[in-house]
Amino acid sequence: MQAEKVIVIDFGGQYNQLVARRVRECNVYCEIYSYRTPLEEIAAMKPKGIILTGGPNSVYAEGAATCSKELFELGIPVLGLCYGAQLLMQVLGGRVERATAREYGKTKTAFDLSSAMFSGIPEESIVWMSHFDYISKMAEGFRSVAHTDNCPVAACEDVGRGLYALQFHPEVLHTEYGKEILWNFVRGICGCAGDWRMDSFVETQIEAIRSKVGDGKVLLALSGGVDSSVLAALLARAVGNQLTCVFVDHGLLRKNEGDEVAAVFGEGGAFDINFVRVNAQERYYKKLEGVTEPERKRKIIGEEFIRVFEEEAKKIGAVDFLAQGTIYPDVVESGLGGESAVIKSHHNVGGLPDFVDFKEIIEPLRDLFKDEVRKAGLELGLPEYLVFRQPFPGPGLGIRIIGDVTAEKVRIVQDADAIYREEIARAAEEWKKENGIVASGESGLSVSERFELAYNSNPPWMPDQYFAALTNMQSVGVMGDERTYDYAIALRAVRTVDFMTAEAANVPWQVLQTVMSRIINEVRGVNRVLYDLTSKPPGTIEME
Ligand code: XMP
Repeated sequence: MQAEKVIVIDFGGQYNQLVARRVRECNVYCEIYSYRTPLEEIAAMKPKGIILTGGPNSVYAEGAATCSKELFELGIPVLGLCYGAQLLMQVLGGRVERATAREYGKTKTAFDLSSAMFSGIPEESIVWMSHFDYISKMAEGFRSVAHTDNCPVAACEDVGRGLYALQFHPEVLHTEYGKEILWNFVRGICGCAGDWRMDSFVETQIEAIRSKVGDGKVLLALSGGVDSSVLAALLARAVGNQLTCVFVDHGLLRKNEGDEVAAVFGEGGAFDINFVRVNAQERYYKKLEGVTEPERKRKIIGEEFIRVFEEEAKKIGAVDFLAQGTIYPDVVESGLGGESAVIKSHHNVGGLPDFVDFKEIIEPLRDLFKDEVRKAGLELGLPEYLVFRQPFPGPGLGIRIIGDVTAEKVRIVQDADAIYREEIARAAEEWKKENGIVASGESGLSVSERFELAYNSNPPWMPDQYFAALTNMQSVGVMGDERTYDYAIALRAVRTVDFMTAEAANVPWQVLQTVMSRIINEVRGVNRVLYDLTSKPPGTIEME
């Protein structure tokens, strides 16, 4: 499908996915492979360039991840980053040693602009360093083309062999001209034309799905989240009513969410598909009655989903294809692609395929990063409120109600959460107006412009995830002249890049006060509103 490809070889560094994303931002298709991938396989893919990532160890440590010398003899340009740079040196006969001090953080660096890597950037700028070891001797044929106060070889190259090494991380935003440097490598040195685009992804996938599915039947479990919604839209465009979407409303969705999903995909919506909405609220509440332990709640909700889906699938009968909304980070994180085998098991609804009668699984979004899925969603004409949904846990409000779940508590947390989201959105829009940024819904904008607007022009305090949770605490209050004994709502808002660590967001006091007073006035059963300041760790983002 892709004529041009750059390969990222993963040595377990924390930014490996970011490297691939940055390459794709140069409109060049990119995939991540483990350093264990045999050389012949890499060569057979005929990449236009190869990038070696950072890694957690020292290249000279026993059993450290390595690569063969032949990788550098394929005639394909190679760029080593941090660990990758040191590995390149070591394998080709240079020397890497422990430095007296770790170089970490933003570092002023001087560049030799005669290097093709640094074309068009200033002679001096800030880069992001994170290393204990340094290149004490370059391999033969290399020349140093950048340095810092502590690091004589911050970058080096052997142009004749097409080998390049950067001690710093161009992929992180803290490196001022990182994007330019990667662009210079991918588009300049590797000579990629840059014809990978989201619209071409959507069009080629539609063709690919059509030729694979033929006149077969496709079944999809639609959760209303970004991935499954984009997949539903893509399949709908490709095979129309050969697609059946089963949407299980477990009664633990956000306010009006079930109706919103049904409005887009159900009757009268934009797509001509078979849409089955299962209203399983009562069933779920019954199963969850009296259950307080978070992991048990998760398990019950996950298992019940499989039961409900299975019953619906039986009614539909055998299908040819089961579609799944797997995306690239899922592939990498489950250890199938790259090195970092962090499996967040509680994030997957496991075991689904065993219960459904189908011949084959299709995963059309398997190559995309989350941002790219969102862009594809815009390309497919999905509304922005669906495309830019915040992450929402599979067990839904079930884990945002501390202790046992009841229909009444669901109502309280849904109402409070809707007010919170409304007020944050209002404040963000006001901030944009004050700062002269057009509204994202404005007509005449391209998909990329709409994406940039919705994503990258928010106020500096904008949380990456925010929601209301119902604490199980009741306390005494006074409303009018009456004593109350009602629940406390906790507001959570975090800033995070990877959801592995997070900090409480600095939402303006005024906004929080408006939210508080609206919740107290409008949501029956609440007499107290708390703001959660805990970072992760020691907290987690969700409270259960
Ligand atoms: P935590 O609470 O682990 O959350 O800090 C990190 C991210 O994962 C989401 N999350 C879940 N997603 N099923 C999911 O699909 C779950 O059980 C679950 N628990 C947490 C959470 O919303 C946050 O984005």
